[in-house]
Amino acid sequence: MPLRAATSLLSPVRMSTVQELLLLPLALLALQVCLCHGACVEVDSDTEAVAHEGFKLGCISCKMRGEVKANASVNWYFKASDEDEFSHLYSYKNKVGEVIDTRFYGRLDWNGSKNTEDLQDGSIYILNVTYNDTGTYKCIFNRILMYTDYEFQTSPNKTIVINVVPKMTRGMASILSEVMMYVSVIGLQFWLVVEMIYCYRKISAAGEEALRESAAEYLAIASESKDNCAGVQVAE
Ligand SMILES: *[C@@H]1O[C@H](CO)[C@@H](O)[C@H](O)[C@H]1NC(C)=O
Ligand SMILES: *[C@@H]1O[C@H](CO)[C@@H](O)[C@H](O)[C@H]1NC(C)=O
Ligand SMILES: *[C@@H]1O[C@H](CO)[C@@H](O)[C@H](O)[C@H]1NC(C)=O
Ligand SMILES: *[C@@H]1O[C@H](CO)[C@@H](O)[C@H](O)[C@H]1NC(C)=O
Ligand SMILES: *[C@@H]1O[C@H](CO)[C@@H](O)[C@H](O)[C@H]1NC(C)=O
Repeated sequence: MPLRAATSLLSPVRMSTVQELLLLPLALLALQVCLCHGACVEVDSDTEAVAHEGFKLGCISCKMRGEVKANASVNWYFKASDEDEFSHLYSYKNKVGEVIDTRFYGRLDWNGSKNTEDLQDGSIYILNVTYNDTGTYKCIFNRILMYTDYEFQTSPNKTIVINVVPKMTRGMASILSEVMMYVSVIGLQFWLVVEMIYCYRKISAAGEEALRESAAEYLAIASESKDNCAGVQVAE
């Protein structure tokens, strides 16, 4: 009877922890969904493009006030490394993209916000990067924020310097730290094995020593007691 009372007391507690455990992933999932669809995060573009591969020129400009309706178009400008002025590269307006710079004909694709005129992601994609694509890119949003009784125009913009490399280069620090990781893992394991062998030897040697010692001790005690006995006998 007291046992049953205890379990019935426990079971709601257990139930709620189980429920929490089940709910936690759901909550995390919901959070992720919210992050994917709701919040806008301004991620900086990569700056190292690999020749003959595709490359995404990232340009994200979040609205400060998500609830305000807006209209935006995006223009990209390009200045090659040996040029002094920007030239018009690409334009995205009314859900239609247009390549303006002849050097990029057939090589650019829209990678930004789709099916909306309220653009927040103005990224474009270079299909086949050449070394001549090295240079400075600028993306300029032209955003009209529509408040109930007035409109407000902003032109957030970003400048990205792109370097074209033959292959993905890794930072020296990254390579060095990976090497150091392997060295330390192998080194520590080797040390562990050596230490284990050493300890094993020491313990087995100590064991033999102890055996020998205890035998010697036994003999010593035996002879001592014999001596004592002799002494006692002498005293008597
Ligand atoms: C990319 O362009 C180079 C020449 O610029 C060409 O040799 C190569 O086949 C192209 N690659 C793709 C995937 O189009
Ligand atoms: C939004 O922009 C498009 C062109 O960019 C224009 O046709 C449309 O009228 C604009 N909408 C509003 C409400 O201003
Ligand atoms: C960007 O566009 C390219 C070419 O159209 C496509 O292969 C790639 O998946 C797109 N990336 C994103 C994130 O939309
Ligand atoms: C790169 O530019 C140079 C000179 O501006 C030109 O001769 C060459 O054909 C260009 N290469 C490509 C792949 O467009
Ligand atoms: C670029 O943005 C800055 C603020 O970040 C602004 O002051 C400047 O006028 C913008 N440039 C253009 C060309 O719109």
